[in-house]
Amino acid sequence: MKQPLKSPLDIDAIRADFPILAQEVHPGKPLVFLDSAASSQKPRQVIEAMRRYYEHDHANVHRGIHVLSERATAAYEGARDKVQAFINARSRREVIFVRNTTEAINVVAATWGRANLRAGDVVLLSEMEHHSNLVPWQLLAEQVGVRLRYIPVTGAGLLDLDAYAALLRDEPVKLVSVMHVSNVLGTVNPIAEMIRQAHAAGALFLVDGAQSVPHVAVDVQALDADFLAFSAHKMAGPTGIGVLYGKRELLEAMPPYMGGGDMIRTVTLEGSTWNDLPYKFEAGTPAIAQAVGLGAAVDYLTALGMENILAHEQDVVEYALERLSEVPGLTLYGPPAEQRNGVATFTLRDLHAHDIAQLLDAEGVAVRAGHHCAMPLHRKLGVPATARASFYVYNTRAEVDALVEAIYNARKVFGLV
Ligand SMILES: Cc1ncc(COP(=O)(O)O)c(C=O)c1O
Repeated sequence: MKQPLKSPLDIDAIRADFPILAQEVHPGKPLVFLDSAASSQKPRQVIEAMRRYYEHDHANVHRGIHVLSERATAAYEGARDKVQAFINARSRREVIFVRNTTEAINVVAATWGRANLRAGDVVLLSEMEHHSNLVPWQLLAEQVGVRLRYIPVTGAGLLDLDAYAALLRDEPVKLVSVMHVSNVLGTVNPIAEMIRQAHAAGALFLVDGAQSVPHVAVDVQALDADFLAFSAHKMAGPTGIGVLYGKRELLEAMPPYMGGGDMIRTVTLEGSTWNDLPYKFEAGTPAIAQAVGLGAAVDYLTALGMENILAHEQDVVEYALERLSEVPGLTLYGPPAEQRNGVATFTLRDLHAHDIAQLLDAEGVAVRAGHHCAMPLHRKLGVPATARASFYVYNTRAEVDALVEAIYNARKVFGLV
């Protein structure tokens, strides 16, 4: 077994930043929170920033000529600057605030898709995608007649890159939309190389960064990503806000998504003209406090250092894979630790994942069970549901031990020997 990493991070101090972690969920059962891929917990720095904003600065943005509105606008736009720096976008105009990853992908499908795709055009997805990167394109297929093609997943839980190259070669592809990191298998897809190949074939590339942006440094310029979608609530920020990054020239040429206040330049009874980026895509009063929280989350993660976060999580995941693979009757899904990030997904004999999750919960261990919004991938894996332990910067090897102990306990309860 590998020795624990000597991390520059003080994990005990980090845990103390997350008030929710210091509780017992059942008498004598401290919370072991292993469900951060669904939604991470929030440090007090984020909670405080949002509280301060509401107690001191709140008003509507962009409109009022009074002190509070100016402060609220500065806070909201300041958060945009932080996100721009965090993902290294060229311009703050390329950072659109939306509700979450799902909405970001829907914006691209509905606006870029309808403006640029015709019946018969090909959009390339993969078999491991989350429903939020499948269904918007299926809607477009129904509405416009776009054809969807899928990059297969290999038995090792990786994208079949030979098949990808062949799909790009076989016929013109307009857009590739693929997840950076799988929420089920943890697979880290070689997104930089995939983007290079897509561009060489004349296709644009959308990166679903829901499971990567919280854990690894994502640089949209280095990747040359055309679009990037992610959610604040998975990266220590609040629910209700996410980001669509798009290259400026693409966003400029796209029609708006929703119509309403703030996204217009002029309105007459005959018609309207659109505001500049990013406001063209931000109709109505935005999620101001949530943007403040996202900005605080970006500050928090940046102060820890994305490389340190990744290294710590790799250590915990590697340890989890080692320990889980010792459990008799347990099947692990996904590639080895070097090719994955953040999650360990498993089944135990033929027990239903919900039953496992329920017994783990009784021990204070929170994991997720089900298809994790990836039904096609589960069909491919040949199981209706899996149990998933997912990790963030606040998790420890000791929590992995608690998980494994709870699984042994579950085996006993189910009479597995
Ligand atoms: C890879 C991936 N994409 C998209 C989503 C959707 O994120 P949200 O529900 O925040 O829109 C998730 C959420 O689990 C995800 O894991």
